[in-house]
Amino acid sequence: MLISSKNLLLTARSEGFAVPHFNFWNDMSARGHVASAESKKVPIILAWAQKHESDLNINEALNLGKFYGSSAKVPIVLHLDHGFSPDIVKYGIDNGFTSVMIDASEESFEKNIVITKDIVEYGHQRGVVVEAEIGHVGTSLDEEDTSQYTEVEAAIEFVKRTNVDSLVISIGTSHGVYKSKTTPHLNFERLSELRKVVPVPLVLHGGSSSGDVNLRKAANLGISKVNVYTDLANAALQVSMGKSYRSILELLEEEESSIQKLDEHYIEVFETQKLYESEEQTSVGAL
Ligand code: 13P
Repeated sequence: MLISSKNLLLTARSEGFAVPHFNFWNDMSARGHVASAESKKVPIILAWAQKHESDLNINEALNLGKFYGSSAKVPIVLHLDHGFSPDIVKYGIDNGFTSVMIDASEESFEKNIVITKDIVEYGHQRGVVVEAEIGHVGTSLDEEDTSQYTEVEAAIEFVKRTNVDSLVISIGTSHGVYKSKTTPHLNFERLSELRKVVPVPLVLHGGSSSGDVNLRKAANLGISKVNVYTDLANAALQVSMGKSYRSILELLEEEESSIQKLDEHYIEVFETQKLYESEEQTSVGAL
């Protein structure tokens, strides 16, 4: 069943766990993600990123996502990740994504508000929730550069003026592998401050290689959704290293199960199963 992430993330926020966001880039990865959700019996967020459109375009992603999501034995959120173009995001809203991210974080604060507000209005009129970002999560965040951490006052103002459903914050993670190859230092103090005063669920991008201890702590302190991509793509890639296969199908099967296994690990790290200790679990499917 395909669901909205609205109540799911609100429950995660109040119970101190995170919902995994796993990017898919083809049918095999989408299947692996859904299989992990089914085996762990938890909802997940199945996400397609606009930057992958040359490998899997939005219509292919919608078809795969709707097919695997609606036939899954657990609730699945179909999410459009890092929508840089408002037109693509609106197309996604009109055609079946149940959640979208509009990413205008590289624009000025004021322009980010204008672009995000427009998408929020468009999405809400059509029953689709919207995620947005301030304090840009880069691809090679310098740990010493604390100017990139999300400012508390800016986050409050951004949410108030846009009415966005969830907010990506920057507390020290970055997309892809880390320059230093060690786990990053996360600013948990800033996270706790933001959790106290920002009235919507907080989202952490750049989950890969951020460290299990860090990620569990972030989930417990107020991160309601963690995005993971690079670790999963690398897990699939590693499978083929130094091995020979009898057929391409055998290789694809191993890639899929390596993705499923790592997803299952992250579901445990994020304590997503806490959902079923919550009284609100029955309403996760509703907007
Ligand atoms: P990683 O590739 O670092 O896991 O980040 C994924 C992400 O944030 C997608 O939005």
